[in-house]
Amino acid sequence: MSFRLQPAPPARPNRCQLFGPGSRPAIFEKMATSAADVINLDLEDSVAPDDKPEARKNIIQAIGDIDWGKKTLSVRINGLDTPYWHRDVIDLLEQASDRLDQIMIPKVGCAADIYAVDALVTAVEADKGRTRPISFEVIIESAAGISHVEEIAAASPRLAAMSLGAADFAASMGMQTTGIGGTQENYYMARDGQKHWSDPWHWAQTAIVAACRTHGVLPVDGPFGDFSDDEGFRAQARRSATLGMVGKWAIHPKQIALANEVFTPSDEAVAEAQEILAAMEKAKAEGAGATVYKGRLVDIASIKQAEVIVRQSQMIRDQ
Ligand code: COA
Ligand code: MG
Repeated sequence: MSFRLQPAPPARPNRCQLFGPGSRPAIFEKMATSAADVINLDLEDSVAPDDKPEARKNIIQAIGDIDWGKKTLSVRINGLDTPYWHRDVIDLLEQASDRLDQIMIPKVGCAADIYAVDALVTAVEADKGRTRPISFEVIIESAAGISHVEEIAAASPRLAAMSLGAADFAASMGMQTTGIGGTQENYYMARDGQKHWSDPWHWAQTAIVAACRTHGVLPVDGPFGDFSDDEGFRAQARRSATLGMVGKWAIHPKQIALANEVFTPSDEAVAEAQEILAAMEKAKAEGAGATVYKGRLVDIASIKQAEVIVRQSQMIRDQ
């Protein structure tokens, strides 16, 4: 370990972030009673330009009126290249109740994007005497965003989570696909007449996880567009969980249970992790730094790996 210790991310479950357009208030109650850990009310790309003012009003009212339980409540504002984002921030922080936990900033390209929003948020919070500072989450969904991912992860103490936005990311990168996440038909290796699909999102996800883990931010996988494809969602989510991400978006209620299933450590995984910890306790008591568990090596690093699973499971249980 470096002399500089890795900071812990916020200790709250973030297995599923459920999105809904701010222009569709009829679904807000359903979102509030869903099993998602995080709710993202959207002012950005699911809301048409003419509907933005109405969507702001709907969201501001719903933040105060609806019982959101223990969920993390987040609003996705418009991007910094639009004429909407400053009004989103000012109206939300001047008019919404302090039940609002978080603002999601889309399409961030550099640390200065966060700095700009932070400056505005800090001024409005001070002006209105808001005592509960809001946190930020960002979407990495451009070539600039992934190129500057580490400075973005370090940009503000408000930053709690970072998601990969596959659709805008693909467009910005000039990728030849219209799919939103998941397997891409033309991304394969071929051998002996057989195709083996590979994962075009892998490196961006890994870069995000590394930046997030360095700076104590939660890494999250973004949307999976084809909500009739449960198998595809599960496979994408399992890859993300394996790489260190803590959750995934749902763009339809069908996807909530799938995300919760994948990002909640299974009973078997927790039991195995606990057995590894017990095996290492025994080894330590006998003066050994390594031992054998089910025919394989476990050592001091295995303790840390097992603790990731046990801690995650405990945190979800205690929420
Ligand atoms: N949250 C909560 N409930 C939702 C919902 C959501 N995001 N989307 C749909 N529902 C509800 C519907 O109201 C319906 O409820 P009912 O059974 O009580 O009538 C039920 O779930 C089934 O909905 P369905 O008819 O299958 O979907 P739809 O055609 O109404 O909506 C989408 C489909 C994709 C347009 C909608 O889910 C949606 O807007 N998703 C979020 C899009 C978004 O925010 N994108 C930005 C981030 S990428
Ligand atoms: Mg986007």
